[in-house]
Amino acid sequence: MAIKSNLFQALLAATLVLTLAEGKDTPNIVFIVADDYGFHDIGYHGAEFRTPNLDQLASSGVKLENYYVQPICSPTRSQLMTGRYQIHTGLQHSIIWPSQPYGLPLQDQTIANLLKEQNYSTHAIGKWHLGLYKREYTPLHRGFDTFFGYWEGGEDYYTYYNCDTFHNRTVNEDLVPEKLVKDDTAEKWCGYDLRDMEEPVTNMNGTYSTHLYTDKAINLIKTASKSERPFFLYLAYQAVHTPMEVPAHYMKPYAHIQNKFRRIYAGMVSAMDEGVGNVTQALRKYDLWKNTVLIFSTDNGGQVFGGGNNWPLRGNKRTLWEGGVRGVGFVASPLLNQTGAVSNELMHVSDWFPTIADIAGAKVNKSLGLDGGTGGLRKEILHNIDIWQPLQGKRLFNDTFDTRVRAAIRIGNYKLITGDPGDGNWYPVPATADGPTNPGPTKYSEDAKNVWLFNVALDPVEVIDLSGSHMDRVHSMLDRLAAYNKTAVPPTYPQSDPQCDPKLHGGFWGPWQ
Ligand SMILES: *[C@@H]1O[C@H](CO)[C@@H](O)[C@H](O)[C@H]1NC(C)=O
Ligand SMILES: *[C@@H]1O[C@H](CO)[C@@H](O)[C@H](O)[C@H]1NC(C)=O
Ligand SMILES: *[C@@H]1O[C@H](CO)[C@@H](O)[C@H](O)[C@H]1NC(C)=O
Ligand SMILES: *[C@@H]1O[C@H](CO)[C@@H](O)[C@H](O)[C@H]1NC(C)=O
Ligand SMILES: *[C@@H]1O[C@H](CO)[C@@H](O)[C@H](O)[C@H]1NC(C)=O
Ligand SMILES: *[C@@H]1O[C@H](CO)[C@@H](O)[C@H](O)[C@H]1NC(C)=O
Ligand SMILES: *[C@@H]1O[C@H](CO)[C@@H](O)[C@H](O)[C@H]1NC(C)=O
Ligand SMILES: *[C@@H]1O[C@H](CO)[C@@H](O)[C@H](O)[C@H]1NC(C)=O
Repeated sequence: MAIKSNLFQALLAATLVLTLAEGKDTPNIVFIVADDYGFHDIGYHGAEFRTPNLDQLASSGVKLENYYVQPICSPTRSQLMTGRYQIHTGLQHSIIWPSQPYGLPLQDQTIANLLKEQNYSTHAIGKWHLGLYKREYTPLHRGFDTFFGYWEGGEDYYTYYNCDTFHNRTVNEDLVPEKLVKDDTAEKWCGYDLRDMEEPVTNMNGTYSTHLYTDKAINLIKTASKSERPFFLYLAYQAVHTPMEVPAHYMKPYAHIQNKFRRIYAGMVSAMDEGVGNVTQALRKYDLWKNTVLIFSTDNGGQVFGGGNNWPLRGNKRTLWEGGVRGVGFVASPLLNQTGAVSNELMHVSDWFPTIADIAGAKVNKSLGLDGGTGGLRKEILHNIDIWQPLQGKRLFNDTFDTRVRAAIRIGNYKLITGDPGDGNWYPVPATADGPTNPGPTKYSEDAKNVWLFNVALDPVEVIDLSGSHMDRVHSMLDRLAAYNKTAVPPTYPQSDPQCDPKLHGGFWGPWQ
């Protein structure tokens, strides 16, 4: 008997239904995450390079065109894994740097934990970035049966080598320039990070990670095809994060792109697109596609100083502007009862947990405290409240949320931003060999503006600031932020621990406590 997944229907679009069969035919779930993949950087959003596999998959399923992620890596991944906002996990400030002793809190259940309870086999390939200082925080202890990849957040695509510097609260991360090319000078701690299960891998030097993770995914699909059990594959590509690296032949078609970083990035995207094509081909080859749901998502906006682009949206990765949080995403599956659909329903990365639970036929226990949608259409997204971002400007009202604090909330069509949201420039696709150049972090000023209100439905590019003329709405949205802030746990952001030094651990990044 066919059952219908209503929650999925609600989240995607009223006219879309996933027709699922009962019992052992519970669908396989393949969740592919691209790293720092910009809003503009997919064929169907007008990219000036080609993404034929992604385009074809997206148009065979449903494109999510009102879909939101978080502006940086660990926060998005934490919400994807747990269905919970950062203010409820303590991850509201910055990312988890490799040298910091913390991670996604152990009491939080991941979607892999839940799927395991449903008898899924669960596999993670690629980037983790949810904690590594103790074994308990690494994937095999967070619901995954197998893992192949790296535990921290970024590294060299060929050598799997990365360095970290000292971090603590008083160092504003916006001041730390992102590494665009490999540069280990002035770094404190350096080591390798590539693991098979928990074991360091030393024989992959020289293999480009997009090829490596694609091959691992294909092997896994092959193995899974021999099993009766459904599987969950979380394929978190390193692509297309900095450093700017790709085998030269992927750049060949893009000689006309003048900007060097953009040209390399085009090649990096092409390699990833090919990888996704190879993975779907394997699903078909082993006759699993007919019962698979494939989800594709970026983790945050593109890094415009590293070849990415979010045009026409405003802002960059790391910012609360739409360019930081509005993401590329789609679902493809022969189980969807419609093809070629576009969903304009508001959707957020925290909605995947209950959606996937629903696909797998699992009941979500209320005690999990999900912030992700649990039926009905989403009306509101808390983009974040970061009380540790340096304050900006003067407080607007004394009886509600403090507008000097970095925060953003979406209610219906309206988005309110407070504090220092980060670089709010509009960055067109670079047309020349140079640039764009980083304007640097906002300097604190008593007079600095710190409140913006946009009607994102009418003004997705955030040009028309309504805050001056809609004071009542600003106040009520600030009240909502204050209410969320009351439910927040204190942020966790410990300073770097020198014991992390890979030199003390066989040259590899890994548990030191
Ligand atoms: C998909 O399912 C919905 C809900 O049952 C239905 O309204 C719609 O007509 C179906 N679409 C197709 C193409 O079958
Ligand atoms: C999982 O498998 C076990 C053993 O085959 C079975 O007893 C249990 O009912 C299954 N659980 C679910 C949720 O299907
Ligand atoms: C944080 O780092 C800065 C710069 O290195 C240093 O001046 C400050 O004392 C550090 N704070 C703590 C609490 O370690
Ligand atoms: C990896 O390869 C690079 C370039 O060939 C080389 O410089 C480096 O020493 C190698 N690393 C290891 C761990 O073998
Ligand atoms: C995809 O498969 C083709 C054919 O086997 C291979 O040449 C290519 O390197 C693969 N691409 C990736 C990204 O794995
Ligand atoms: C939900 O979780 C709570 C706390 O872990 C547990 O006591 C309860 O039995 C669970 N309920 C169900 C229906 O599994
Ligand atoms: C709050 O602001 C109002 C007017 O903006 C002012 O009259 C009042 O004194 C302020 N209260 C405090 C405690 O600062
Ligand atoms: C948010 O909550 C924290 C902890 O309760 C509190 O210290 C802070 O003042 C609140 N911030 C705002 C802007 O309401």
